Amino acid sequence: MSNINAAITCVHGVVPEKILSNKDLEKMVDTNDEWITTRTGIKERRIVADGETLSDLGSEVVKAICNKRGISPLEIDMIIVGTVTADHRFPSTSNIVCDKSGATNAWGFDLSAACSGFIYTLVTGQQFVESGRYKKVIVLGGDIMSSIVNYKDRNTCVIFGDGCAGVLLEPDQEGNGIIDSILKADGSGRELLIQKHGGSAFPITKENVGHPDNFIFQEGRSVFKFAVTKMADVSAEIMERNNLRGEDVDWLVPHQANLRIIDATANRMGLTKDKVMINIEKYGNTTSGTIPLCLWEWEKNLKKGDNIVLAAFGGGFTWGSVYLKWAY
Ligand code: ACO
Repeated sequence: MSNINAAITCVHGVVPEKILSNKDLEKMVDTNDEWITTRTGIKERRIVADGETLSDLGSEVVKAICNKRGISPLEIDMIIVGTVTADHRFPSTSNIVCDKSGATNAWGFDLSAACSGFIYTLVTGQQFVESGRYKKVIVLGGDIMSSIVNYKDRNTCVIFGDGCAGVLLEPDQEGNGIIDSILKADGSGRELLIQKHGGSAFPITKENVGHPDNFIFQEGRSVFKFAVTKMADVSAEIMERNNLRGEDVDWLVPHQANLRIIDATANRMGLTKDKVMINIEKYGNTTSGTIPLCLWEWEKNLKKGDNIVLAAFGGGFTWGSVYLKWAY
């Protein structure tokens, strides 16, 4: 076993300036602020300006991380981007971020795991650091959900927003950093949360362009049942196998899909609300962006050695949890 842990040593986030409020959505579809607030906890979300891309947000995150950490982008070894809304099918958004941020000695790739994108990507980055092969790996989670949302579908358009955040992973030999993780997948749930068209199975053609399947589809009620159980189960499991009781956990950083799912997970873990990072009311569900955006917003509250559990559930289905000790 390696005695090197991969530890988060810096975090930053970027959200677009433009706000799309529940009131704005009332003018676009048959919905209302009261329904959205009580069913999801969301009040507003951010939406990119015309021409603003995931690689624009991601490269701002990388530049800010290097600046905060006092290093040059040239020192970054790898950049891995968790996303389902890459700038293009190829080249990868990672390639473009490396170029735009000046991280021209880095290599990397994109990773697709829907709302579990950040934890999948974090655990992937962890392997490269713990192997001893790479010293500075940036893991980004971000999505431009407005590019795949159908703004005529009230079932989905009220939920999602745009944003990107990321962390720098470096070796730690003081016992902090990523301690444990549980990652899961079940592809039999794929039809319940999917952007069906646009891949090689169903390319967008002139016959199907504009069809609802060009956009994200979610069977909300069924996904809710899976999400609420799986996210709570996996969080309880990681606590149990690391002998953590509710009082030992300093922070839960849950994926921000729905306030009711977050509350159920926190209850199952025996956590009081003050230990749960929640910003869903401001940003909605930014898919891979939610967890690192929370870490960024709460960075000033975190102390070295804090026990933190990250938990997510998303399309695929994919889900999991990560237990880490804050390193700075
Ligand atoms: N405004 C008003 N009414 C609405 C809206 C809306 N925006 N959307 C749906 N409704 C209506 C429905 O049509 C339905 O009406 P009906 O009873 O007449 O048929 C009623 O409200 C209830 O709809 P439900 O879908 O049952 O509402 P629910 O309480 O389940 O909330 C939601 C919907 C918020 C989507 C919830 O199911 C949910 O959070 N699901 C899980 C989301 C999740 O965790 N996804 C995984 C991560 S996302 C990713 O991986 C990309």
